[in-house]
Amino acid sequence: METTKPLLETQQLELAYGAFKAVNGVNLCIKPGTIHTVIGPNGAGKTSLFHCLTGERRPTSGRILLQGEDITRQPAHGRVALGMARSFQITSLFQELSVLENLRLAAQGVDGWRALNFWQRLNARQQHIQTANEILERLGLSDRAAIPAGELSHGQQRILEVGMAICARPRLLLLDEPTSGMGIDDIPAMTRLIGELGKDHSILLIEHNMSIVMSISDIITVMNRGQVLVEGAPETVRQDQRVREAYLGEAA
Ligand SMILES: Nc1ncnc2c1ncn2[C@@H]1O[C@H](COP(=O)(O)OP(=O)(O)OP(=O)(O)O)[C@@H](O)[C@H]1O
Ligand SMILES: [Mg+2]
Repeated sequence: METTKPLLETQQLELAYGAFKAVNGVNLCIKPGTIHTVIGPNGAGKTSLFHCLTGERRPTSGRILLQGEDITRQPAHGRVALGMARSFQITSLFQELSVLENLRLAAQGVDGWRALNFWQRLNARQQHIQTANEILERLGLSDRAAIPAGELSHGQQRILEVGMAICARPRLLLLDEPTSGMGIDDIPAMTRLIGELGKDHSILLIEHNMSIVMSISDIITVMNRGQVLVEGAPETVRQDQRVREAYLGEAA
């Protein structure tokens, strides 16, 4: 395993807001085929790191490499084209359109200008519908296919967002707190989905719910005050005294 080339790597990544370094020298290494979770107390810098990875924020210094290629200066849409997908915000779901139609549009968006001529378009449309149906099944939403997305429960909408992200068939799926705001009833479905997707995707997950984190992560990076505190397998992290202290510090 040690020789596996990283899928995504950060080198001394730093993001400052004024004089304050929210991300302060982070070296992250995401191996292909893993669910790599970043945890840490509130304000640790997880979302700031996430924004650097997606391209929403330009790091103040350091580098980001995707399969060895420097993407530090790639804008967000360029990273999507290179195979990095993040889940959409609920606000980007088409509330009036059916669940299936939302997925079909996401699949179509991936192709974009590629389907230029009419015959290709017709052919591509079939493929988009097929992709949408496959993903629908993976999401466990097949029985909701024809319902307007706006009529799904909040949790199901979040699951649909993840589905729209994987329509792009990404090499790396980036998820920042996919369960936030979800009712307790929907959490097992999301947990199962991420675990399932982890079988054929590489996933970078930020998540607060420890039972989810511990059950599906291959590797966990613990951040605190903008830096990596500890990294390792769930069991190692669970038992680490420094991790406990970081969380206790938050509670105190
Ligand atoms: N736009 C901003 N301007 C200034 N400071 C910011 C900005 N965004 C975040 N911060 C600060 O940077 C630090 C890290 O914030 P960040 O949102 O990355 O933490 P987090 O680990 O995602 O926390 P949470 O678990 O609460 O989501 C916090 O102290 C926060 O107040
Ligand atoms: Mg956050």
